Amino acid sequence: MMGSKPTDIKKINTENGKEHVNGSPPDIPKLMPGGQYIKIGKDSSKSTYLIFAPHVEEVGILAKYLKIFKKFNINLIHIESRASEKIPNKYEFVVECASGGDLGSAIAEIRDQSSYFNVISRNYANNQNTVPWFPRRIRDLDRFANQILSYGDELDADHPGFTDPVYRARRKYFADIAYNYRHGQPLPRVEYTPEEVETWKTIYKKLTTLYVTHACKEHNHVFPLLVQNCGYREDNIPQLEDVSNFLRDCTGFTLRPVAGLLSSRDFLAGLAFRVFHSTQYIRHPSKPLYTPEPDVCHELLGHAPLFADPAFAQFSQEIGLASLGAPDEYVEKLATLFWFTVEYGLCRENNELKAYGAGLLSSFGELQYCLEGKSEVRPFDPIKTCEQKYPITQYQPVYFVAESFEDAKEKMIKYAQNIPRSFGVRYNAYTQSIEVLDSKMQIENLVRNVSQETQILLNALQKL
Ligand SMILES: [Fe+2]
Repeated sequence: MMGSKPTDIKKINTENGKEHVNGSPPDIPKLMPGGQYIKIGKDSSKSTYLIFAPHVEEVGILAKYLKIFKKFNINLIHIESRASEKIPNKYEFVVECASGGDLGSAIAEIRDQSSYFNVISRNYANNQNTVPWFPRRIRDLDRFANQILSYGDELDADHPGFTDPVYRARRKYFADIAYNYRHGQPLPRVEYTPEEVETWKTIYKKLTTLYVTHACKEHNHVFPLLVQNCGYREDNIPQLEDVSNFLRDCTGFTLRPVAGLLSSRDFLAGLAFRVFHSTQYIRHPSKPLYTPEPDVCHELLGHAPLFADPAFAQFSQEIGLASLGAPDEYVEKLATLFWFTVEYGLCRENNELKAYGAGLLSSFGELQYCLEGKSEVRPFDPIKTCEQKYPITQYQPVYFVAESFEDAKEKMIKYAQNIPRSFGVRYNAYTQSIEVLDSKMQIENLVRNVSQETQILLNALQKL
């Protein structure tokens, strides 16, 4: 089995940036926690951040608010007035409140007197309600580069390359490339060795014999385009840069090299920006049909073709968007949904089952096995699927079937509505950033945009 769940691929370490075998981490711009205007309390049991904007801007308005804090015995640790990120040409206040006093009553009163109000972190009695940090701009993904737990050359004792110093050096070479990569740079081109190309060739030849009968129609539609445009050949390992550019042209998806194991949270957050964290190394030559972790074969043969499909790209992005700021247990559920769809999903075509999961499309053995009827097959239903346990070192005992990517996407969107989050999120493709939707004015602006788009469609329709 060659796919891996996100927790495996890019394993946990969200906050404690690991001291690196490669020396000091490269210079990463210091980012304000929470991106542009969500500021996460340093210790939510001690303080609460409030952000609010007055209905009408007038001299002395801050004094009015301060009276409210005084009235309810709230001590303030920090007060800031700044240009509003949400309402153009207006300002907003950011206030950090110490614990103690009647914060609930103060919040109620300030909310009444504000055009926009948000609590960023708050200790509700014994129930902490802190929004985990998430990237707001696409370049924030650079921050993940040094949040990896296991570097690319740190192999387990049972890894086929564990005792091979040449292979380990090669893995470090690839990990260093990814570790030093920054958003906006071209993806470094790599010269693969003849031995590496030989490994690719073995896998490529075997898998391509199965695709016509076993892969979904979307995969079979895109694959020849990758041959034409990106150098997919048995004697050539395609370059991430070429594949990434192709995907960008199709759906806006891009690839980004990853140096090691990322957390599920970080990995899924990339999808919200239509960014897929991809390995660039290839598996050990001693076992060309087996890899304990994702490699370039898994990424380019399994994942890349589907990211060129608009409906699948949107479905994948929905998982990413749902994960932003979600509580840990929901991120885990989303990682499970990712597993049973993007990694091991089946779909129905003219009453026949086909594979669309990358773990299947990159595994000669499991791609045949999954359609042989030896495993249980259930309809994809996020509420049930997200609870399903699964093995990561053997073929799956259960597969989930999507009726279509559109259908799966609709179900995902519905599922995401159950995730406890006090705000909505939307990806702004113009600015490549995440918009946090938690004010009436933002929604009104969006509704206006939607009606403009509708007008364009109506006009076009009338011309037909
Ligand atoms: Fe994968």
